Amino acid sequence: MTSPVSQNALFEPGRLGTLVVKNRVAMAPMTRSRATDDGTPTPLMAEYYGQRAGAGVIVSEGVNISPGAQGFLNVPGIWTDAHVAGWREITRRVHAEGSTFFMQLWHTGRIGHPDNMQPGLHPVGPSALKHERTLVTPSGLQPSVVPRELNSAEIEQVIADYAQAARRALEAGCDGVEIHAANGYLPSQFLHESSNQRTDAWGGSIPARARFLVEVARACAAAIGAERVIVRLTPFSEFNGAKSPDDAPVYDHLIAELAKLSLGALHVVGAEVSGNQTVQRGEGERAPDVLGFVRPRWPGTLVAAGNYDLARAQRDIGEGRADLIAFGRDFIGNPDLVERLRDGHPLVERLPADWYGPSAQGYTDYPRWQQPTA
Ligand SMILES: Cc1cc2nc3c(=O)[nH]c(=O)nc-3n(C[C@H](O)[C@H](O)[C@H](O)COP(=O)(O)O)c2cc1C
Repeated sequence: MTSPVSQNALFEPGRLGTLVVKNRVAMAPMTRSRATDDGTPTPLMAEYYGQRAGAGVIVSEGVNISPGAQGFLNVPGIWTDAHVAGWREITRRVHAEGSTFFMQLWHTGRIGHPDNMQPGLHPVGPSALKHERTLVTPSGLQPSVVPRELNSAEIEQVIADYAQAARRALEAGCDGVEIHAANGYLPSQFLHESSNQRTDAWGGSIPARARFLVEVARACAAAIGAERVIVRLTPFSEFNGAKSPDDAPVYDHLIAELAKLSLGALHVVGAEVSGNQTVQRGEGERAPDVLGFVRPRWPGTLVAAGNYDLARAQRDIGEGRADLIAFGRDFIGNPDLVERLRDGHPLVERLPADWYGPSAQGYTDYPRWQQPTA
């Protein structure tokens, strides 16, 4: 008989691999586009993360692992000493509140634009197949470009870049890293036929398409310890054009391979959301049960995200469907989200106009809950 999990388990200490976290609420990774033009994290970012350190664990916004990884403007990086120094101040603030901090390692692959990169660089991918998305650039919205196909030496270099970024993240005081393999970015581009038409060791069969992510996870684990590595996936999502004829065998194989590595956690986003938005479904239409698919296949810590409210979070923890619940959008306007959920206080309205920069407005100016005066 399994022991019953209390209704309040969400607010009690939990485990993330071998680490103990002060509660089971995670802050989901969210790009907020407030870094300097060269990707250096700012004091404003330290204030923002410090304000949200009521979370048991914070997963940072996606962080570029190298200049070639950059798809979007004002996203922070982790390849220069200045980057490391900026992150060190962030981790110091978060640790002072007793929270745990994982840096999300990001390579956008084909979802990028040359105008958003250092001069001379061009987006790369497993194959020269472009996506349909338009991207914000310094001169406005522009259509996507055809990415340059990576050769095998370059693939090995990108894997080494992930490991180096993981080492740098630890140098900056992070407790670990999360490999961003969700939402159609580079690791997901290798996984799916819509972006990977290779016929060498990195494409074709499902094991060959999964190989890139498995090798990245292995390299990060070797660099900083497997228990300090999380992988984030969006099974069954077609965001950014990630599509294979049938995703089930792809994720079945991938999760089995990742399970062999004894990683700190797997982090999955449910089909309730696509990217940064809730999926609208017709009456009676239900989202695929991503946790129902993943949980029996994953023996370790499972973090779940995707349009959670308090009741669903408590239910999924209580039923053992997940070990930690990540909240994204609600952490933007509610820096004290954990206390608000625990004490039953209302949440503020979401204002997407401020999500992607550039200023303190809609970023660090959200107050903590205050009892209204009569
Ligand atoms: C402004 C914004 C930026 C996001 N940036 C990232 C990101 O950098 N990496 C990532 O894996 N997911 C990103 N996401 C997705 C969130 O992590 C999360 O999966 C999604 O918002 C669903 O959770 P929620 O319903 O609690 O908001 C972003 C979402 C938002 C709203």
